[in-house]
Amino acid sequence: MCGIVGYIGTQEAYPILIKGLKRLEYRGYDSAGVALLNHSNELNVYKAKGKVADLEYSVASKDTSGTIGIAHTRWATHGEPNDANAHPHYSQSSNLALIHNGIIENYMVIKQELLRNEYEFKSSTDTEVLVHFIEYIKETNNVDLCRAVQIAMGEVVGAYAIAILDKNNPDQIIAARKSSPLVIGIGEDEFFLASDATPIIEYTDKVIYIKDEEIAVINRGCPIKILNMTDIEQTPEIKTLEMNLSQLEKGGYPHFMIKEINEQPQTIVDCIRGRVSVEAMDVILSGVLDHKDKFLNAKRIIIVACGTSWHAALIGEHLIEDLCRIPVEVEYASEFRYRNPVLNKEDIVIAISQSGETADTLAAVELAKASGAFIYGICNVVGSSIARATDAGSYIHVGPEIGVASTKAFTGQVTVLSMLALTIAKERKTIEKELYVSLINELAAIPEKMKKVLEKNEIIKDLSKIFTYAHNFIYLGRGYNYPAALEGALKLKEISYIHAEGYPAAEMKHGPIALIDTEMPVVAIATTDRIYEKTISNIQEIKARKGRVIALVTEGDDVVCNIADYCIEVPKTLEYFAPLISAIPLQLLAYYIAVNKGCNVDQPRNLAKSVTVE
Ligand code: G6P
Repeated sequence: MCGIVGYIGTQEAYPILIKGLKRLEYRGYDSAGVALLNHSNELNVYKAKGKVADLEYSVASKDTSGTIGIAHTRWATHGEPNDANAHPHYSQSSNLALIHNGIIENYMVIKQELLRNEYEFKSSTDTEVLVHFIEYIKETNNVDLCRAVQIAMGEVVGAYAIAILDKNNPDQIIAARKSSPLVIGIGEDEFFLASDATPIIEYTDKVIYIKDEEIAVINRGCPIKILNMTDIEQTPEIKTLEMNLSQLEKGGYPHFMIKEINEQPQTIVDCIRGRVSVEAMDVILSGVLDHKDKFLNAKRIIIVACGTSWHAALIGEHLIEDLCRIPVEVEYASEFRYRNPVLNKEDIVIAISQSGETADTLAAVELAKASGAFIYGICNVVGSSIARATDAGSYIHVGPEIGVASTKAFTGQVTVLSMLALTIAKERKTIEKELYVSLINELAAIPEKMKKVLEKNEIIKDLSKIFTYAHNFIYLGRGYNYPAALEGALKLKEISYIHAEGYPAAEMKHGPIALIDTEMPVVAIATTDRIYEKTISNIQEIKARKGRVIALVTEGDDVVCNIADYCIEVPKTLEYFAPLISAIPLQLLAYYIAVNKGCNVDQPRNLAKSVTVE
């Protein structure tokens, strides 16, 4: 949700800011803007509706000089996407320019006060209210900008990461955060700031993650100063980034999404490296083993997540209940945080989040923490807010995911959940040796099997042409493949805007079967498992009503292929890991349908990769 970038140093700021915005565009892409202080100390703000490229086009003939600047790419919350609502916003005097990621919840109350004091507003945003408010505090209290920000932050309710330029102080950027992420890169005589490290990595690998309710005072040529809201100086913790630039490029693929789909055999290798050993016939997930007692004594596990991560959580529920015999509940983080859940000290709460920044998941973690439960994080982004807020955890190590629709993060999450379940099951002695061994062998074999699935690319591409203009889809699956069906439907609706619903195959009789006719494609996941025969009956029910069935089957399954209209064969695996295999053809099908329709696959309308507002 919104990307922010800043630069202060010896180089021209504009090219660095534009490049940074493009790297952050996955966070929001309905409008963009930049503020630059030029060499004559003029504060120039340029904004444009649309993509960062539209902004570049619109400023082509303008003065973009200056070695200090801030920039923003927006995902609209307050006010429609247009030039006026785009950030940065000037203060009333036009001396300050501010960018903001997050939501100021009490902005209406503050706006009323400012209106009474004859402030005028040019936009419908909460952000413009904030910049006017900071200037109002600065003037009425006669304090410097840093102090004004501290006072303002004490009064605003909500989430924010902000950066501000002051025309009267051309050698300084002030930045602050609460709930929304903010990273500062430290170069030679220069500083970079951004919502995440992706715009920073090509300049420096030294970063500081600003913590909640901290303010960074970045002065040209001076060491950075971090203060809390009560003005007490904090010692900055400098971390070294591990990602590299090539991970952020498309590597010859037309879209990040298809690159990330194809990366999965390798990302699973990276995810299990050093954790799954076929030689030792063991799984070592250190986050779990370091807190063995917690898992041995756990009475219940609650998994909180949103979106695709929630689908991975449903698979985790199957794995943990099946293998560890611990009751598991899966909750949408957004519901959990507001429903006064019953939590005990013997509960373990697992938070799953690719970005590690999803506002609802972070809030669920904070709520669970307050109850004394042990919190375990499963994140991709190293050093992210959720990774830092949890008591322990495991990274999925699949590398940066840029396509807004999650693919490799999903299979990485399921892989970590598989290793977590195996580790706990072994410690609790709830798994037979024979099954433990065969699951380890199978998990290690998944990357090769994924490669085989990816070889079906052309078949799925051809199939996509038949269904490009369908208006509705149903995805069916049972057991471990039910969450895979939900995920397949989510992929399709996210990127192709075709209405798609995932359903447990047997539940279809209780409603969705009424929708079945010759126009309704049904994707049935019917790989061999405990309830394979039952799934076949469900497919027969669809065929009896003239539905068109695309079946995902285990290699060599003539039975289903004879009933279904189209078949995609995938390698056989154990049902525990079925979604790791089933997910890939469904990702490819959604991808090619969206490409055929001419949709913006990596940046679908209305969506954002990192949802830092609730
Ligand atoms: C957004 C993204 C989804 C993602 C969800 C949860 O909606 O578009 O792809 O699954 O947020 O994000 P998280 O980073 O917490 O996994």
